Amino acid sequence: MKVLVVGATGYLGSRIAVESARRGHKVTALVSEGSQSKKADIVQRLRDTGIETATGHLESKQEILVKLLTDVNIVVSAVNGPGLLLQLNLVEAAKKAANPTLQFLPSEFSAFGAVGEEAAPLLYGPKAQVRRALQASHIRYTFIVAYGLAPYWANGLGELGTRGRVPPAPRGLDKVPYYGSGHTRFCVNTVEDVVKYTVRALGCSYVVNKQLHIRPRLNQVSQHDLIHIYEDKLFRQQGIGQRLVRAPVSEADLDAQITGAADDIKRTQLQLQKSFIFMGTLTPLGIHDYEATALYPDDHHYTPIARYMNNLIYECKAHLAEE
Ligand SMILES: NC(=O)c1ccc[n+]([C@@H]2O[C@H](COP(=O)([O-])OP(=O)(O)OC[C@H]3O[C@@H](n4cnc5c(N)ncnc54)[C@H](OP(=O)(O)O)[C@@H]3O)[C@@H](O)[C@H]2O)c1
Repeated sequence: MKVLVVGATGYLGSRIAVESARRGHKVTALVSEGSQSKKADIVQRLRDTGIETATGHLESKQEILVKLLTDVNIVVSAVNGPGLLLQLNLVEAAKKAANPTLQFLPSEFSAFGAVGEEAAPLLYGPKAQVRRALQASHIRYTFIVAYGLAPYWANGLGELGTRGRVPPAPRGLDKVPYYGSGHTRFCVNTVEDVVKYTVRALGCSYVVNKQLHIRPRLNQVSQHDLIHIYEDKLFRQQGIGQRLVRAPVSEADLDAQITGAADDIKRTQLQLQKSFIFMGTLTPLGIHDYEATALYPDDHHYTPIARYMNNLIYECKAHLAEE
């Protein structure tokens, strides 16, 4: 199949582009002129994998986007920030391309779809607008509900943080914010699994006009579970027996933090925290939903989050050795 990836120089988009090419799709990456020089190493890696690049972005002239969408079977977007709302230009172009077989995967890859846009309006609002535009058109779409990506959620032991942060070391000093009862369950997936299931869904007729949830059974965990897994592994693998200090954060505390947030990014981060930990993201699946490990049981064996956390033990050990 011919696949256009928008946002192919990004964290998720570059991986989706490479995995699509690895699975035999003919991939074109839409790359802005600026990124061709600023992100030359990533662009070169894409080209080395056999991916073609087309120059442009979501604000390019409609003719350019229409031409690209006429020539492909699938468009996957993994843009972020202001690019999320600009995807409406891509939807307009897809309407004009009138390509009856086109499958459109907008940039989702979050818990949106399992929770509503009010959970984090600045992030989910634009995603919701793009969804509505697609649903009101005749374009075939698939929405990927990916829940939390492990480097953002598991590394913070259930506290959303910067990608790939080093988890706290149990020295009796470092505190983990411990939200509410700690027992609300959410879902955390490795980036590799999100990429593999997304690419598996390309060209799959089952998921046309559906949501594909990536919600493996063993990845449905609570903050209590994540901390417990971490402490248990530290003890069994490294003989470190101290427990982490839990600093309780109530829902009212978190609400106050949201109200006093310094900027929109921080506010959104705290709102996502609230939706995962206090509201819970594991809402029941509807008739327009599929779950990836159930739909593709033999295609890919996902990494349970407990196994992903082995990496965190090595990082913690290295961190302690440096001190
Ligand atoms: N569930 C989770 O835990 C989680 C975590 C992280 C992200 N996500 C979601 O995953 C998606 C992708 O995020 P990411 O972190 O991978 O993004 P990212 O690394 O910031 O990359 C964004 C990509 O979009 C491109 N882009 C931005 N604006 C554009 C425009 N106007 N026209 C064309 N391309 C544009 C960027 O191109 P340039 O190189 O030119 O800037 C870049 O390639 C988002 O929907 C985000 O919400 C989810």
